[in-house]
Amino acid sequence: PPSTRYEAEEATIARGVVESDHAGFTGTGFVNGDNAAGPYVEWTVTAARAGTATLAVRHANGTAVNRPMAVSVNGGPPVTVNFPGTGAWTTWANATLSAQLGAGANTVRATSTTANGGPNLDHLAVTGP
Ligand code: GCU
Repeated sequence: PPSTRYEAEEATIARGVVESDHAGFTGTGFVNGDNAAGPYVEWTVTAARAGTATLAVRHANGTAVNRPMAVSVNGGPPVTVNFPGTGAWTTWANATLSAQLGAGANTVRATSTTANGGPNLDHLAVTGP
């Protein structure tokens, strides 16, 4: 099924900067969140109808240490998503999760939960419902 891509650099960014110094991103760059717990990127995604969607978070982590984030949809209970090292800051990968979306606009917020911060975030791809 088709997916819709939402760039991180166009989302709401709390405590992070848009950069473009590591190749392979889509759009015009990626978000480098501060290396701390608490910074987040919040996307607003539109669903044609209520139901289950697959969320793919494209990211890179050039370190050997997992950089988990808490993902919350519409302010609901956070789900931990792990972002282990991808091998290089220029090696991008997708971490996927399922989420329940409502019809219309939904917020998807990814917040770093450790002092290392999150990975570099490229985009969120939403498939369905
Ligand atoms: C390096 C890298 C950044 C990355 C940062 C980090 O500085 O160039 O893109 O965000 O490490 O550890 O988060």
